[in-house]
Parts: sequence; structure tokens; C-alpha cells
Amino acid sequence: MKKTLLEMRNITKEFPGVKALDNVNITVQEGEIHAIVGENGAGKSTLMNVLSGIHPYGSYTGDIYFEGQECRHLNIKDSERLGIVIIHQELALVPYLSIGENMFLGNEQHRYGVIDWDQTYRKAKDYLLMVGLEEDPRTLIKDISIAKQQLVEIAKALAKNVRLLILDEPTSSLNEQDARKVLDLILKLRQEEGITSIIISHKLDEIEYCADRITIIRDGCTVETLDKKLDNVTEERIIRGMVGREMSSRFPQRENTIQDEVAFEVKNWTVYHELYTERKVVDNVSLNVKKGEVVGIYGLMGSGRTELAMSIFGQAYGSNITGTIVKNGEVLELNSIAEAITSGISYVTEDRKENGLLLGSSIMHNITLPRMDFVSKGGRIDKYLERKT
Ligand SMILES: Nc1ncnc2c1ncn2[C@@H]1O[C@H](COP(=O)(O)OP(=O)(O)O)[C@@H](O)[C@H]1O
Ligand SMILES: [Mg+2]
Repeated sequence: MKKTLLEMRNITKEFPGVKALDNVNITVQEGEIHAIVGENGAGKSTLMNVLSGIHPYGSYTGDIYFEGQECRHLNIKDSERLGIVIIHQELALVPYLSIGENMFLGNEQHRYGVIDWDQTYRKAKDYLLMVGLEEDPRTLIKDISIAKQQLVEIAKALAKNVRLLILDEPTSSLNEQDARKVLDLILKLRQEEGITSIIISHKLDEIEYCADRITIIRDGCTVETLDKKLDNVTEERIIRGMVGREMSSRFPQRENTIQDEVAFEVKNWTVYHELYTERKVVDNVSLNVKKGEVVGIYGLMGSGRTELAMSIFGQAYGSNITGTIVKNGEVLELNSIAEAITSGISYVTEDRKENGLLLGSSIMHNITLPRMDFVSKGGRIDKYLERKT
């Protein structure tokens, strides 16, 4: 008989104007890897934030039981004391602190009120070994890859005596190889340390690979929980649960609107690294986009996709850029972002919070910002024009 580790009953959570969770139920058994799947905005992260106390007791309705005890977490510390540790999709490590410092942040190893650095780094080393990372714990976080940072987060969770490890989309910014490493580690931790995990993902192949049970959430409601051993778990069934209708084809037919005319062309585009100017990051790329066409640029992380796009966008990235850009038959010399914008090229950044938006400014201001010339008169923003635009 399997033991129930966690039970969340009838969890309802509302934000102003949105019911993010509507009577959600989930039961996690000791030692299992439990996947939570659902479309963007289904409520997966909110459910985990309720569990970990980020949304404190009183801000939701419903009951949480961990090892049979009712939980009323008021903050993250409360849940971590029980060994519930959440690793967020956007990693929360401090870039200018070392691996070891990050690992024991808020949980400092000390003696007589003084931080014990020997012990910090010795223990850190042990936890790094557990996650298979051979890195000096004195290395700064900013100097290691995202994939390694993900492993550091897991090591950090282990340092907190984790009983239930929650990973919110842990592989979303990893390439396939690194993603597999993370999944294998979760499997290994279950095998060797008996650690129970909840993994949030919408990559069905990953769920197939590591999950024992799968809870599907749609629009804030639990659809069903499937057991890989008992139920007939197919991708079709999961997708049907996630989107709420039969998917006759995963890629619906679309009307073809592509015209023969080439609208945009990049020829022999070569870009060198911005700082390490001897390093080539884009090597002789050529592509063309026809009118009405959507062209995908595909490649692993680090292959140069963003560098290609940014360098085309008014040389927003790179040094010693060579090649030709042709738009509607006309060769463009784009030496600045402003020139790219006035030539009718737009770029939506990969990291919108960091590079794309002014989070402290209004939606209106963000929308009109790239084209001040549309909304200003005599060097001043015209409120009327701005609103109209
Ligand atoms: N802090 C918040 N304030 C207001 N609305 C939120 C907040 N967090 C999430 N939501 C809303 O709750 C819903 C569920 O979001 P989320 O749990 O992040 O979905 P998922 O993780 O499944 O993509 C969405 O409609 C989202 O906009
Ligand atoms: Mg989420």
C-alpha cells in the first residue's frame, strides 16, 4: 500500500478578475514522480505557489495535508521546514555569489554566529556530487551555464533536506541533452534517496519518460489523474485533457497565404562576438522570407539564433558584421536599432521582462515607446496622440 505524502483538496484561488484555481484536487504518493500538465495559464504554477506558501493561508480556500498533517503555510519558510522545496521556472540564484553561497543562502552554515566557510564549501561539494556536477563551489553563478544552474538549484533543495521537490518547467530553457540529464537526476534521486517530485511540464515526451502519475489541469480545474501503470496513457489522451476537445490533427490545416514575392532577404550574414571579437557566432547565414510567410529559425540553445536575429535588427548585437539585408528589393544599411525600426523591422526580445518591456511603465507607454515620432510634437509627448496611437 502506497503512502500519501501530499493531499490538496478543493483548492480555489482567485486573483482580481481571474479564478486561477477552481476546486483543484491532487494527491501525491510518497516516492513517486508526479507530473502536472496543462496549457499556459491553466493554473499549474499558482497551485504550487499555494502549496509552498507564496500564496499564504487565507488567500485561497481548500485544505492541504502533508504527511497527514494539515498545513497552513504563511510563507515559504513554513513549507520548507516540512521539506517542500519549489524550484521556479525562472531560476532564483544570485549571479554574483558563488555556488556554495547560493546553496546555503538563508540557511548559512555557521559556528558561534560566524559563517563557517570551510563547512559551507565542503557540504556544497557533497551536494554537487549528488547531482553529478563537478564544479568548484567557489565558482560564481554567472560563470556557469543555465543547465548547470538548474542542477545547483536541485543541489540547493537537497541541502534543505527536501521531502517533496517541485520543479516548475525545469527543462524549458535547456537543450535536449541537458533536459535529459535533469530528468535522469530526478529519477536517480527517487531511486537512491526516495525523493518525491512534482514536475510541471508540457513536454509530453518528458512526462512519458519520467512520470509515474500525471494530473491534467485545464482552466484552473483538475481534469483527471492518470497512472502510467493502470491507465491507458497516450499523448492523445493527455492533449485532449489539456485542451478540452478532440484533436483531429495536432497541426490544423491553414490557408496558404504565401506569395511568390520575396519580402525580406538576408545574404551571407556573418557576425562576431560582441566582446570576444575573434569568435564567430553567425557564419555565413542566408535566408529569405516570402510575403505572407512565417519562417522558423531552429537550433539548440547557443547555436546563434538570437545573435542572428539581433544582429539583423540594426546590429543590436555583434561586431564586425558582414552581409546584405534586402527588404522589398531594396538593400538596407541598418546601423542602429532606430534605423531598423523606421525601416519597418520589429524585434520581440527573448527575455521580455529584462530587455523588451519597461515593467514600471504603462502598457500605453510601452506600446508607443519605439515610435516616439508618432506620439510627440516639438520634442514632447502629446498625450492625445499617445492615447490615440
Ligand atoms: N500573481 C498573480 N496575479 C494575478 N493573476 C495571476 C497571478 N499569478 C497567476 N495569475 C493568473 O492565474 C492564471 C494561472 O496562471 P499560472 O498558474 O501561472 O498558469 P500556468 O503556470 O499553468 O501557466 C492565469 O490566468 C494568470 O494570468
Ligand atoms: Mg507556470
